[in-house]
Amino acid sequence: MERIYIFSRFERFWHWMQALLVIGMLVTGFEIHGSYRLLGFTLAHQVHTVAAWALIILWVFAIFWHFTTGEWRQYIPTMQGVDKIIRHYAWGIFQGEPHPFKITRARKHNPMQAQTYLAIKVLLNPLIWISGLLYLYYNELAALGYGLDLGTIALAHTIGAFLMLAFLISHLYLITTGDTVTEQLRAMITGWEHGDEKNTK
Ligand code: HEM
Repeated sequence: MERIYIFSRFERFWHWMQALLVIGMLVTGFEIHGSYRLLGFTLAHQVHTVAAWALIILWVFAIFWHFTTGEWRQYIPTMQGVDKIIRHYAWGIFQGEPHPFKITRARKHNPMQAQTYLAIKVLLNPLIWISGLLYLYYNELAALGYGLDLGTIALAHTIGAFLMLAFLISHLYLITTGDTVTEQLRAMITGWEHGDEKNTK
């Protein structure tokens, strides 16, 4: 079977760090929100703030990486083949049909994945990031005369958090739908699609 090296070392590092930080931010964020008590408000708030800066730094590095490597092209949206992919996830997958999209090095995400990831990068991440920073510096901005409505900031940030949670749940389901349940997970660990660990770079 053909093996393709699709996820570079930086990409895998960025993916797993982001996963860790986003899950940490969901757990602490919803505690701050008052949904449950786990660490206690003060500690949850401290962890959330430290993780927020780590996530922002990671995103800045990832943006730099996308532009310097040209990998941003992976996310150019296209409608070509979207109908086949929708049909596959709604029907074909339950009949054991093979996935209609074949991965190449130049196009490693199917059109639906590329559109979803693009929306996360250009809409959802900035929504969380900007609302989070406004939340964090609300008092300082008010002292400078930029009085903002805290309720609106909190609502925008919480909507972003729910959208991130919805993405995480669908992402966890979709990564189990490769040729085998763990194939896509393996690819994000080793870098190789259909690869084996001995050949990782
Ligand atoms: C995936 C990333 C993130 C998730 C899922 C998330 C989630 C949440 C949630 C659910 C809340 C509670 C909102 C409320 O009830 O009003 C919250 C609060 C907050 N978040 Fe985030 N957040 C994320 C990223 C960030 C970032 C990047 C920053 C800052 C740069 C940030 C700063 C804050 C602040 C300052 C609060 C309010 C804490 C307080 O009330 O004192 N968050 N977050």
